[in-house]
Amino acid sequence: MNTKDDIQQLKSSLPKELWFNSYPMYLYQNCWNIILDSTIACQNHFQAQDTDIIIASIPKTGTTWLKALLFSIFNRKNHPISESPLLKHNPHELIPQLESIIYEKPENPNLSLLEICPKLLGTHLPFQSLPTSIKHSNCKIIYVSRNPFDTFISSWLFYLNYDENESVKSDMIEEYFGKFCEGKFPFGPFEDHVIGYWKESLERAEKVFFVKFEDLKADPKVELKKLAEFVGCPFSVDEERENVIDEIIKLCSIDKLKEVEANKSGRVYSFIENKWFFRKGEVGDWVNYLSPLMVERFKKIMDEKFAGSGLEI
Ligand code: A3P
Repeated sequence: MNTKDDIQQLKSSLPKELWFNSYPMYLYQNCWNIILDSTIACQNHFQAQDTDIIIASIPKTGTTWLKALLFSIFNRKNHPISESPLLKHNPHELIPQLESIIYEKPENPNLSLLEICPKLLGTHLPFQSLPTSIKHSNCKIIYVSRNPFDTFISSWLFYLNYDENESVKSDMIEEYFGKFCEGKFPFGPFEDHVIGYWKESLERAEKVFFVKFEDLKADPKVELKKLAEFVGCPFSVDEERENVIDEIIKLCSIDKLKEVEANKSGRVYSFIENKWFFRKGEVGDWVNYLSPLMVERFKKIMDEKFAGSGLEI
């Protein structure tokens, strides 16, 4: 499927929702997709190399943080941490998103970003929609997940910013909550996205590494060591002695990244201000927003959805 007509025909055959009564979303490969043309271009054309590393996530689960950490782990031999490109660039500029940056304009993809080798790339696509070459090559995938309560609140507050058409109003939280529980939001359903990668990480541990936002917060050093080993650049004894891991954690902390000029202003994505990626970065902030009734309902729904997956959320 290549032509605009083919995609138009596909769109007319798919279930459609107007997200916040404004943005068309299509149920494509069991996932609500808001950037279908770019997704299809990426699926048709992207050729993963065995050395590539893909950072996958559902939005608002810590993608930006993981990109900063991975970039630092991977490039630490290329420059001292005090001269890290992260002090001048937003993490999404250093690790571009496949479907929404590289293939953002399907007729004119940003292929120069693919010339680096090995490449670090991001994606919000669910596992089932990844380009075949990602699934079948030896490239590695790191998936970051976050508890659904914080993900929900983080995305709700983010979308309040995001909305150019002003169709999202602060009193619509209940409506968005209903949509989130039904899975009708960009890249939802939440549970299918998370469980899809979780299962792959169990079946192919050498290919898919699954990390939780909460574990990164609780013990970043342990998680960083695991990440570095997974991507084939473990920390040496000397590096550990010289506190390289602590330096990376500090560099990538939300407070430090918020100070960077490139994260205070400007846009990597045309529709998102860079500063919106950095809010609180805490675990459990949802208690400040959800009513006891919503929590009870949400917990029941999520418990049911994750039952039997073996994944504690
Ligand atoms: P909150 O809205 O709960 O603060 P994503 O990068 O996937 O869009 O996720 C955004 C969430 O990650 C936001 O959560 C944001 O504040 C948090 N975040 C961004 N950078 C972070 C960092 N360096 N450390 C911890 N959390 C971070």
